[in-house]
Amino acid sequence: MCGIFGCALKEGKAAPLIHSSLKRLEYRGYDSVGIATISDGKIFVKKDSGKIDEVDKIVNLDDMPGSIGIGHTRWATHGAPLKVNSHPHADCTGEIVVVHNGIIENFMELKNELQNLDHTFVSKTDTEVIPHLIEQVLKENPNLTLVDAVIATLKRLEGSYALAIISTKEPDKIICARNESPLVLGINRKGVFCASDIPAFLPVTNKAVMINNGELVILTAQDYEIRKIQDSSLVTREPITIEWTAEMAVKQGYPHFMIKEIHEQPETLRNTLRMQEHYLELMSTFLDRANEVFLVACGTSYHACLAASYMFSKLAFLPTYPVYASEFIEQHGKSVSIDSTILAVSQSGETADTIAAVTCAQQRAATILSLTNVIGSSLTRISRVYIGTQAGPEIGVAATKTFTSQLSVMAQLALRLAKKRGKVSQDEIDSLEANLEKLPEIADTIVKTQEEKVKKIAKKYKDSKVFFFLGRGISTATAFEGRLKLMEIAYIPSIAFPAGESKHGPISLVEDGFPVVFVCPKDDCHKTLVGNIMEMKARGAQIIAIIEEGDMDIKSLADEFIEVPKGIPGVLSPIPYVLPLQLLAYYVALEKGFNPDMPRNLAKCVTVK
Ligand code: M6R
Repeated sequence: MCGIFGCALKEGKAAPLIHSSLKRLEYRGYDSVGIATISDGKIFVKKDSGKIDEVDKIVNLDDMPGSIGIGHTRWATHGAPLKVNSHPHADCTGEIVVVHNGIIENFMELKNELQNLDHTFVSKTDTEVIPHLIEQVLKENPNLTLVDAVIATLKRLEGSYALAIISTKEPDKIICARNESPLVLGINRKGVFCASDIPAFLPVTNKAVMINNGELVILTAQDYEIRKIQDSSLVTREPITIEWTAEMAVKQGYPHFMIKEIHEQPETLRNTLRMQEHYLELMSTFLDRANEVFLVACGTSYHACLAASYMFSKLAFLPTYPVYASEFIEQHGKSVSIDSTILAVSQSGETADTIAAVTCAQQRAATILSLTNVIGSSLTRISRVYIGTQAGPEIGVAATKTFTSQLSVMAQLALRLAKKRGKVSQDEIDSLEANLEKLPEIADTIVKTQEEKVKKIAKKYKDSKVFFFLGRGISTATAFEGRLKLMEIAYIPSIAFPAGESKHGPISLVEDGFPVVFVCPKDDCHKTLVGNIMEMKARGAQIIAIIEEGDMDIKSLADEFIEVPKGIPGVLSPIPYVLPLQLLAYYVALEKGFNPDMPRNLAKCVTVK
């Protein structure tokens, strides 16, 4: 995720304002910070890894000359959180500097091309290709304006970006541009600002101009000019007045981080699906060679592992063993060896149980692979190979967007393995890949079309004393996750089982009005699941079913149903089917008057065993 900020002031120093604005963007990432300003035709840069306050103590970020500047707070994706990878990034001459939020997918090929043209790169980031490309465009076309050189550069970029660029060539302006990553302008009588989001400048102005995908902005202390990147045509857009309080602004107008993060899933899935090929290739090569694979995690991350074990088995014919990290040492500590491979999954990368399990396995010479949302966390430091889940910082204690990101990475890994192992037809792989690509859109549809319905269901069932969550096959993991969400934030005791197992005991609890949530994608288990629904119904249960749009078999049995768009293959179904369950937990918690962001007795990161 990352936050960018830029300001062009009529008078006074830009750096202190950039510094304070970056502090308000720190929730978007905080592993490195950097500022660049222009004064007397020279660029000044201060940057380093670490939180803003830590870096400021050492370099004094406010003490930089110039009334125009840009800044960045980083959440590492490409390249470790080191000074050299911190933004701003510069071209060879140091005359063009750039801050960036997003992922440039084709940076490898651009970097190769530029290196062949003698450009020197110092970082491991994707961003660094941008200033070098602008430099190259200007070298080849010395008569171009900076804006035209930036437009020519943007046309070569694939991926997502919100950019702010300054250059000594035209020192009175900031050029910014947007594709997918958020960008907004702020205006007051002292100057013009650009930022990743409104809270960055809200203390100095509530006049904002939203920038759309495919637009570029030329910003000076006096004015702003918006153009379409495609054809350079001018766009007229007046500022709007933002009525948010400071607290609302940090949550972008949402009442809680949890609901904000649920709504972010189309974007976070899009980012995760842009995973760099070579990381997937490397990790799947390790998995392919492994003799035994343990998927080790806690809580929600464990549920992602449980679902992934079905993905690896069904697509890659690779047996994997999901294990609760807190049980790993007792259960497998003695038998794990050089022949074992651990894929540890952790949003924070700091969970004590997960780190302990991995450390134990590492001491016994096992291969450690990991998936985490925090690059630079302890887990990344003890892993042979790690992949970042690209979900951006998750602040709500209840994991939501990181769960779907973990799942989409593991689905990509399973598909990659399937290709290597040749067990699944190319047609099936192509179709699954196409379906994966559709998931951000599907997540968007679910949130847009089903949220109101979920609210009503939450209101109706809020006083239930207990809930059941049932699913078959891979949906068992979805049911487990739905149950954990409801329990942890709405404090309703809940039970989750594979639906087939429920009649071996748990069904004895069921009586009139007992709410049972069924997760019902149209997969191989569908027919049998219908039977399980009938068993519950016969005993007076109220059926709340998460179904595929238009699934008449289940609609006719259910008391309530929430619909998910058609055609999602069962093996990918936990990603969209969990969304209604996240919403259900959130709205039940609200109905009961609880703050979903701060569930009692819990912490976002559990660093004790
Ligand atoms: O950071 P991790 O993914 O390792 O955290 C694991 C669990 O502590 C976490 O998933 C916890 O269960 C959440 N509160 C679930 O919403």
